[in-house]
Amino acid sequence: MMYNNEHFEPVITKFVNEAGSETIDFYINKENGYKALEKALKMKPAEVVDEVKKSNLRGRGGAGFPTGMKWSFMPANPVDANGNPKPKYLVCNADEGEPGTFKDRLIMTKTPHKMIEGMIIGGHAIGSNKGFVYIRGEFHKEIRLMQKAIDDAYARGFLGKNILGSDFHFDLVIYKGAGAYICGEETALLNSLEGKRGEPRLKPPFPAQVGAFGMPSCVNNVETFAAVPYIISEGAEKYAKMGTERAGGTRLIGVSGHVNKPGVYEFPMNLSINEIIEIAGGVKGGKLKAVIPGGASAPMLRADECDVKTDYESLAKAGTMAGSGGIIVMNDTVNIVEATYTLLKFYEHESCGQCSQCREGSHWLARMFKRILDGGGTQDDLDYVAKICGNMAGQTICAFADAVTGPALSSVKKFRNEFEELIRNGGLHGNKKQVNVNEGVHV
Ligand SMILES: Cc1cc2nc3c(=O)[nH]c(=O)nc-3n(C[C@H](O)[C@H](O)[C@H](O)COP(=O)(O)O)c2cc1C
Ligand code: SF4
Repeated sequence: MMYNNEHFEPVITKFVNEAGSETIDFYINKENGYKALEKALKMKPAEVVDEVKKSNLRGRGGAGFPTGMKWSFMPANPVDANGNPKPKYLVCNADEGEPGTFKDRLIMTKTPHKMIEGMIIGGHAIGSNKGFVYIRGEFHKEIRLMQKAIDDAYARGFLGKNILGSDFHFDLVIYKGAGAYICGEETALLNSLEGKRGEPRLKPPFPAQVGAFGMPSCVNNVETFAAVPYIISEGAEKYAKMGTERAGGTRLIGVSGHVNKPGVYEFPMNLSINEIIEIAGGVKGGKLKAVIPGGASAPMLRADECDVKTDYESLAKAGTMAGSGGIIVMNDTVNIVEATYTLLKFYEHESCGQCSQCREGSHWLARMFKRILDGGGTQDDLDYVAKICGNMAGQTICAFADAVTGPALSSVKKFRNEFEELIRNGGLHGNKKQVNVNEGVHV
């Protein structure tokens, strides 16, 4: 299937179903592995940055920030107060904690060298000699396979001193996270990497100025790095052409929930959500009711809104976001209040607690949804949801609070009738509890 896009070809997943795709021999022999690095090392760092800029690659971690531009923010020759040169660090965000997102795992287990090669090229581009791969602690298999891949890359001279006979050195180490969703936020990740509590930092200063261990740092997602070898070997133009005017290339999408063929797919960005669901085997066990299009934090869409294309701009226009590439499909057996409550419980648990709007707001929202489910909800609760969310979004240290408002607000806005029905009928099981509005049910 050409997905109505004559330029499309898989950039990342072409060989992932073949046995041994994770090994260095497979990568070198079948995928022309590390040839892009050879080419990049003959280019000036600024030329590499320019090529990535021209490719229109946008970060795949969630915010969709242009990668070439982020690389160009790194200072050329940073010095400390005494005029001594400062090191620069390149960090790969492999925390992948967003519910509904599971695509980076595929890269780490099936084609880890693509990401490693992308990081070495990135190191050359920004003038860094040290990279960290921050992997979510629960990813035992991923950590094992990534470590093997890094060891093999050292053994073949792609990492370490004088890479491929050049004067460029690059070391890469893995750092295991300790299992907190917030550690995926780049500044919390940097704190965690330094051995501190994983709490987001106020910005500015941005990581490009003050990053890991106080040094200029650049943080990118696994998939972002994995796209870089293709851009260098095939050219920015070819990569850009596969995407839209403002975002180049392909995207990995994890499709989960009520579909017959859940999994990770690589798609061009001009497919609609409905088309993606069809490719994923169609809706399972009922009719389509709602879709969360970009990981749990993306506002949900009703079935009648799913004709929307999945590029960044189309989804933003539809009031939601492409986020981290996780499409969660819900059929008509799902109670939206209950499904949203599950997500709110997650956010309540994962808020780092630094900002009262987020700490209290995520707790209140979870409590309120539980109260509605338990039969103690009132019509006023629905207005409170909007009021609480209004005090959270854009008011906090990091974007976590905004993320909480995505499912909370969109569920009430799009499925208000379901909330009202629960309020009228005494909750999910019709056992009206008459809970005081301010008391709620503590979860
Ligand atoms: C609460 C929260 C969690 C995040 N979790 C992740 C994550 O697990 N992986 C990731 O790559 N980016 C995550 N991000 C985005 C990062 O802060 C950052 O934007 C990203 O790593 C930059 O890489 P990119 O430019 O390649 O997208 C998260 C952001 C927030 C606010
Ligand atoms: S918004 Fe939430 S998660 Fe982010 S720093 Fe504030 S309290 Fe922590």
